Amino acid sequence: MREIELEIVALDRRGAGVGRAGRRRYRVDYAYPGDRVLAVPIGRGRARLVRVLEAGEHRVEARCEHFSVCGSCRWQGLAYEAQLRFKGELMERLFSRRVEVAPSPKVWYYRNRMDFTIASNAIGMRRYSSFAEVESAEGCALLSEESDEILRLSRRFFGEEGLEAYDLLSKRGFLRYLVVREGKFTGDRLISVVTKEGSFPLERYALTLGELAKSVVWAVNDSLADVSFGEVRAFTARDYFEEKLAGITYRIPVFSFFQTNPYQAERLLACVRRLLSGAERLLDLYCGVGTFSLALADLAGEVVGIEEDARAIEAAQLNAQLNGIANARFIAGRAEERLPELEESFDAVVVDPPRAGLHPRVVRALSSLKPEVIVYISCNPHTQARDIQKLHDYELEELRALDMFPHTPHVESIALLSRR
Ligand SMILES: C[S@@+](CC[C@H](N)C(=O)[O-])C[C@H]1O[C@@H](n2cnc3c(N)ncnc32)[C@H](O)[C@@H]1O
Repeated sequence: MREIELEIVALDRRGAGVGRAGRRRYRVDYAYPGDRVLAVPIGRGRARLVRVLEAGEHRVEARCEHFSVCGSCRWQGLAYEAQLRFKGELMERLFSRRVEVAPSPKVWYYRNRMDFTIASNAIGMRRYSSFAEVESAEGCALLSEESDEILRLSRRFFGEEGLEAYDLLSKRGFLRYLVVREGKFTGDRLISVVTKEGSFPLERYALTLGELAKSVVWAVNDSLADVSFGEVRAFTARDYFEEKLAGITYRIPVFSFFQTNPYQAERLLACVRRLLSGAERLLDLYCGVGTFSLALADLAGEVVGIEEDARAIEAAQLNAQLNGIANARFIAGRAEERLPELEESFDAVVVDPPRAGLHPRVVRALSSLKPEVIVYISCNPHTQARDIQKLHDYELEELRALDMFPHTPHVESIALLSRR
């Protein structure tokens, strides 16, 4: 393929560098404004970075040897201050107002979860732009130093036991995912191995990991879907881990969602508390294991949480008890189904949906519910901006942004909406 030279002049909404060659515009991952790069067009306006010819002023040496081969951390080659500035500019483009993005208290080893793919001779992350190839990782600079040892021991153990990796193309093999979850403030570590149907030597694997894991879980995903969760078949001590944020202990089931950067999550909770000075009745939509419901319960008369993951709802109920919180109640089900049928009134609603944003039925139900304020928390400001436009009876009173995901183009956006 023909190589082209590009001056990178901007970043697109997904964090790729944008450059022009003649009248054509190309998007190049791992290229940043100010760079002059050599790239190969790969179709649909995209080009693959071949070499940086001249580094722009924001470029720094990436810390990780897998940078740009592993599909994660697309901004690791950008100075951290520049990452924050570009995230702020992205927010400004979407909401037409200036927002300072608060830096993460930690920019390395901040993640509490990593889903490593297991392939023949490799455990690591999917290679950039590849469906089936896996980059063998020695460890992950976003997770923890211990991850190096976990990967090394796991690789050796799987090899010695003659356990074959699952192959996405031939659909044969056994081992699929290795998921590491850590309670950064509790020291808990839960390691799960997701396999195809078969038998997994759980006890021997746990002995190999020793003190590195508080518990080890074996789960089966026998379907064609390439997902890193499955039906729990066995575990050594427990099938959950615990994390403690701002004085509240959360029990988190092995495959349930939890905020991935707990250091910044504490600040997120503090930020939402400041925006929501008090409420008689508070609704927490997409509540997970009760993260916001429980942290805000003392500001409200009653809190109700809704979440589709039934295991997370069981955990939220238990978390309320464990923390002595008596005014929180939880409902299992999809927000778009449960919310329209709720016959209760709320003066404040917190929403923290997945990246796709609010279901249109949730937008309609919120408009009929008429809470005085809505705090919309989002890891995808694009869908958040779209949803806010649809909430015609609400105006954007305050907008905040936190960097939850250093070295990636993602930003956490928090909007306070008040009824007109
Ligand atoms: C970004 S997470 C937020 C969780 C929680 N607020 C927290 O901070 O830990 C989104 C949550 O929405 C849940 N979810 C996804 N789709 C849903 C739906 N249609 N209805 C209700 N919950 C849903 C997911 O299981 C996940 O727990």
